Amino acid sequence: MLQRLLHVREPLLVTLSLLQDDEGRGLGSVIVFDDYTQEVRAQRMAAWREVARRIAHEIKNPLTPIQLAAQRMRRRFRDRFANTPDDAQVFDECVDTIESHVDGLKVLVNEFSQFARLPAARPKPDDINQLVQEAVSSYAGKESVRFETELDSGLPLVDLDRDQIRRLLTNLLENACAAIAGSGRPGKVVVRTLHDAPLQAARVEVADNGIGVPPEDRRRIFEPYFSTKEHGTGLGLAIVSRIVADHHGYVRVHANRPHGTRFIVELPIRTT
Ligand SMILES: Nc1ncnc2c1ncn2[C@@H]1O[C@H](COP(=O)(O)OP(=O)(O)OP(=O)(O)O)[C@@H](O)[C@H]1O
Ligand SMILES: [Mg+2]
Repeated sequence: MLQRLLHVREPLLVTLSLLQDDEGRGLGSVIVFDDYTQEVRAQRMAAWREVARRIAHEIKNPLTPIQLAAQRMRRRFRDRFANTPDDAQVFDECVDTIESHVDGLKVLVNEFSQFARLPAARPKPDDINQLVQEAVSSYAGKESVRFETELDSGLPLVDLDRDQIRRLLTNLLENACAAIAGSGRPGKVVVRTLHDAPLQAARVEVADNGIGVPPEDRRRIFEPYFSTKEHGTGLGLAIVSRIVADHHGYVRVHANRPHGTRFIVELPIRTT
C-alpha cells in the first residue's frame, strides 16, 4: 500500500505522529497522507491571477489611444495619396495592421482580465440537462464533428450559476473540437449527465475522440497559460477549474477509449 502511494506523482501532505505512553515509551506511529492536489492547484491559480491582473492593467491603458491615433491618421492623410496608388496601398496596409493587432490585443487583455476577475458564482437551483442541450445545439452547424447527448432524466436540480456553467461547457466543447481537428479522424463528442446518488453529485462528462492528452501533461493542462496550441491562451481549463471550485465540485481528466479525452465534472447536489 505504502509502496503504491509513494509511486503516485501527486502532491501529498504527509503527517507523521509518534505515539508514546505516559512514561515516554514508544507505542508506534501514525502516518497520514493527504491528497494535496486541489490546494496546490488553488495556490498556483491565485499567483497566476495576480500576474494576469497586472499584465492586463498595463497592456489595456495604451490600446485605446493607439487605436484612435490610427483612425485619425487614416482620416487626415488618406486623401494625400490620391495620385499615388502604391503609396495609398502601403498606407492602408500599415493602418490596417495597427488596427487589427490592437483588436487582437484587446481580446487577449479581456481574457486576462476575465480570468483575473471572474465574477463570483451566484448559484440558483437549475437544470443541467437544459444547459447541456443549449450548449451542444449551439455547435450543431459544426462540420466534421457529430455531437451526441446522453442525459439522465432523473437528474435533480443543482445549485449553479448559469452563465458560469455555460462558459465551462463552451470551453470543454471548444477544446474537444480543437482536439478533433488535430486528429484527422471523423469527430464525435458525447456529452453525458448522470445522477450519482451515493455521492450526492451531478456528473457531467464531455468525451471526444480527438488527439488526447499525453499522460505527462494531464496535471498541467489546468494551469493558467499552459497551452499546446499556436494561438491558445491556455486560460480555458484554468477558468473551468475555477468555476468548478466556486461550485464546490471536482474536475478530472481521463483518457477516452480508443482515442481522445474525457473530462468529468462533479457538482454537489444539495439535499436539504
Ligand atoms: N479535449 C482535449 N483533448 C486534447 N487536449 C486537450 C483537450 N482539452 C484541453 N487540452 C489540452 O490542454 C491545453 C490547455 O487547454 P485550455 O483550454 O486551458 O487552453 P487552450 O485551449 O490551449 O487555449 P484557449 O482556451 O485560449 O483556446 C490545450 O492546449 C491542450 O493541449
Ligand atoms: Mg481551450
